[in-house]
Amino acid sequence: MKIFIDSGDTNEIREAQEMGLIDGVTTNPSLASKSGKVFKDLIMEITQIVDGPISAEVVSTTAAEIIPEGEGLAKWHKNIVVKVPLIPEGLKAVKALTAKGIKTNVTLCFSASQALLAAKAGATYISPFVGRLDDISTEGMQVIRDIRLIYDNYGYETQILTASARSPMHFLEAAKIGSDVITAPFSVLKALMHHPLTDLGLQKFLSDWEKAKK
Ligand code: E4P
Repeated sequence: MKIFIDSGDTNEIREAQEMGLIDGVTTNPSLASKSGKVFKDLIMEITQIVDGPISAEVVSTTAAEIIPEGEGLAKWHKNIVVKVPLIPEGLKAVKALTAKGIKTNVTLCFSASQALLAAKAGATYISPFVGRLDDISTEGMQVIRDIRLIYDNYGYETQILTASARSPMHFLEAAKIGSDVITAPFSVLKALMHHPLTDLGLQKFLSDWEKAKK
């Protein structure tokens, strides 16, 4: 499973990259706004840190506007993936952008039927938001299972990008289901590394070593 970091914070993106954890980056308008940087400057800075797919989201809502906005974003760097909301106008735009050879990430997906439509439109990635589904007492991971089944049934090549991941369990479940990619905040990626038995074991090894030296 590929791992993307969901962040607009270049310090944590750099740290995750140095740990060898990440294959790509996703951003969204909320994360970009939180960074306090000009959007293009932020994305260009990220392209200098990570050599992999970097999702940059459009803010238009009609196909007539999304298409030129997406074409503009794609020109910034070869690794840009244009993130488009899963609305009817967004799907029209995905079809047109795909025909022009531009990679897309269809975002704000909350059901397997929406994901099927995004695949038909030619999306490179589909981003189902598991955490936000959990937030409203719906099992987010079930949507990932359903999409995996449907895409495999029909041989769709759209990659499942599990998004809105909030915990190590989302990560583990996504890997077991066969999600192609997961995007997660740095806090979740760091939480994956920790195990109390690792810390206790290391403490014991080091104290035994000290005793042996005496
Ligand atoms: C995905 O591409 C989104 O940026 C993100 O995963 C949303 O996560 P949130 O629901 O925690 O805001």
